[in-house]
Amino acid sequence: MVIQGYPNPGDGLRLHLNENTGGCSARVLEAIRRVRPSEVSTYPSYRDAVITTARHFDLDPDWVLLTNGLDEGILMAAVGHIARRRIHDAENIIPLPAFDPYPNSTAAVGATAIPIPPGPEFAFPTGAVVAAITPRTRMIFLNTPNNPTGQLIPMADLARIGEAAPKAVVLVDEAYIEFGGASFLPELPRFRNVLVGRTFSKAYGLAGLRVGVVIGHPDALDPVRAVTLPFNINAVALAALDAALGDVEFLPRYAAEVRESRERLYAACRRLGLHYWPSAANYVLVRVGEAAPLVAALAARKIHVRDRSKDPVTPGCIRITAGIVAHTEAAIEALESVLAMRER
Ligand SMILES: Cc1ncc(COP(=O)(O)O)c(C=O)c1O
Repeated sequence: MVIQGYPNPGDGLRLHLNENTGGCSARVLEAIRRVRPSEVSTYPSYRDAVITTARHFDLDPDWVLLTNGLDEGILMAAVGHIARRRIHDAENIIPLPAFDPYPNSTAAVGATAIPIPPGPEFAFPTGAVVAAITPRTRMIFLNTPNNPTGQLIPMADLARIGEAAPKAVVLVDEAYIEFGGASFLPELPRFRNVLVGRTFSKAYGLAGLRVGVVIGHPDALDPVRAVTLPFNINAVALAALDAALGDVEFLPRYAAEVRESRERLYAACRRLGLHYWPSAANYVLVRVGEAAPLVAALAARKIHVRDRSKDPVTPGCIRITAGIVAHTEAAIEALESVLAMRER
């Protein structure tokens, strides 16, 4: 049977999709319980949610487009800027390693992907990205912190690329920025060609409800708005978003757990002699050598991590979500025991 989405790994700790391992705020669940029958039976209104989100990010509401997860925002950015304009020779620049929806959305709108390999130790290839810009470049996908490496793109490099490609749309994907690094949002007013993508899936634990946001100057955002379906986010998700943003203690508490978990993962890697990349996000990329049997052995211990080894840019690597410290400790224990078996 072919089923959409990612396969469910079954029981155990989900450390393979960079989700919030602690769940959402209790206030989100209370808000969901308060949803009225008429809110379910009528089409949603987005006005309040857009205003609340704009206030949260200190933005003009005209710069905000709520999307069904940032995934939808990525696809709609490509549809709005390439397919809707019937551009047949579009090139999209995609620095590697890349989040799958960048090449997938590029292919969906008939554009050509221009992949750019990273520098040593995943240094961001700013010069190569700038050199790859042509008159056909329509989109540039910049992901900071990067999934899966956790590396940040320096602010000056984001700005340099935005300035170097005034005819293209630069999508700065900040899905994990709440866990480390500074947002590009304060720089955004200088750019008419840059969109910032954010999600409430990770830091706020709303992945199951699907809420993201694309932010930018109306010149860049309106083409995306034009192709986004009118009722793209459901009423329950809107109620949840309002409650999540209202719980101002939730994020600092969770971000502190993530920071501590990252440190414990680094320490475990050092003990085990595994190479890792210090991460600004809620996951750590680790080089383990032969990854598939290790991932399977961890799964047998009910610890699910992501095998990144099939991507030629991350050979021999796995990605481990860093969330609640107790969960990270369970993962470390399993990793230690699996590696001890491997060495026998
Ligand atoms: C880099 C990156 N961007 C965007 C997303 C999309 O998040 P969502 O569609 O859940 O908002 C993810 C999720 O894994 C991600 O890793």
